[in-house]
Order: sequence, then structure tokens, then C-alpha cells
Amino acid sequence: MKNIIAIASTVIVLILMGYTFSTGGAFQGGEAGHVIEDIGSFKKKQANNSTQPPENENVEEDKIRALRDKAGNTAMFEVSNAYKSKCASCHGIDGSGLQNGKKLMGPGLLGQSEEKLFTDLVDFKAGRKENLIMKGLLINLSEEDLKEYAKEIAQFKARKEALEK
Ligand code: HEC
Repeated sequence: MKNIIAIASTVIVLILMGYTFSTGGAFQGGEAGHVIEDIGSFKKKQANNSTQPPENENVEEDKIRALRDKAGNTAMFEVSNAYKSKCASCHGIDGSGLQNGKKLMGPGLLGQSEEKLFTDLVDFKAGRKENLIMKGLLINLSEEDLKEYAKEIAQFKARKEALEK
């Protein structure tokens, strides 16, 4: 009986040894060996990656440059503070009547002549052209002010086109 137990446990030990050997266990440094191996392959991966970044960076840089160009162009389309604060919210910062492609409350003003803009503004103010919003906005403005707005807005289209070239 004792012999059987001894043989059986020897067999079990041998099987376990075989198993640990086949999985690269104790004989090759066990867990520590795995960790070192992992670090090695990690470094290798990093080394592989390090050959790619120049490409990626260029793509990113191009994107950033494109964004900067865009921002620069928008910044270059300068409008008076008066227009920005009083009119842009409804007619768009460039008079297009749009903001980020969405229609604002007011119509687009691009391409209208100074005379037409001025007449419209005067008519709004006088109530000949009825619109409570515009009337309320213009009521405190002098004819000189209206002329300034008309003059500025009439230039938007040409300035926008010049920028897009
Ligand atoms: C709160 C929104 C709002 C603001 C701010 C605003 N507008 Fe308007 N504007 C309108 C609306 C709405 C109309 C259309 C009125 C109509 O046709 O009945 C309009 C019409 C106009 C028109 C006539 C355009 C056309 O083709 O008939 C002109 C010109 C105009 N606005 C200029 C201005 C100016 C200049 C300012 C700044 C001083 C300004 N607006 C501020 C809402 C606004």
C-alpha cells in the first residue's frame, strides 16, 4: 500500500514537473521570466511604434495647420464692434444669416447694396417697413449710424470673396 502511494505521488510530481517545464515555468525563471519577457516585447512594440510617429505627427500637424488657417481666416474677417454686438447674433458674423451652417433669425444680408440696406434700415426705423425687432433695435440709432451699418454690411460680400481666394 505504501509503495502504491509512493509511486503514485512520484508520478504526480513528474507530471507536474513536465507541465511546468512545457509552460516555461520554474526552469526558465517562472513568473519573473514572464515579466522580463513581457517587458522585452513591450520595448520591442515601442521600438516598432517609434518608427511611425513622424508620419502621424505630420498628419496631426496638417490638421492643426488647417484649423489654424481656418481660424485665421475667420479672424481676418473683421467687423466693427457695433455690428458684432448689435447685428451679428441674428444676421451672422459675416452677414450670411448663418452660423455654423444654421439659419439665424435674420435674413442674409450679403450682396445687398449700401443704398438698399440703408433704405431698409431707415424704413424699419420709421415703421414704413414693419418689423418690431428691427424697429426696436434701430430706434435709438441716428441716420448717421444707419449709414455706417449699411456701408459696412455692403462690403461684406466682396471681403468674403477676397478671403476665399
Ligand atoms: C434679434 C434679431 C435681429 C438683430 C439683432 C438684427 N436684426 Fe436685422 N433683421 C432681423 C429680422 C427678423 C429681419 C427680417 C425682417 C423682415 O423682413 O420683416 C431683419 C432684417 C434686416 C434687414 C433687411 C434685410 C432684407 O433683405 O430685407 C436689414 C438691412 C437688417 N436687418 C440690418 C440689421 C442691422 C444693421 C442690425 C444691427 C444694427 C440688425 N439688422 C440686427 C432680425 C435682427
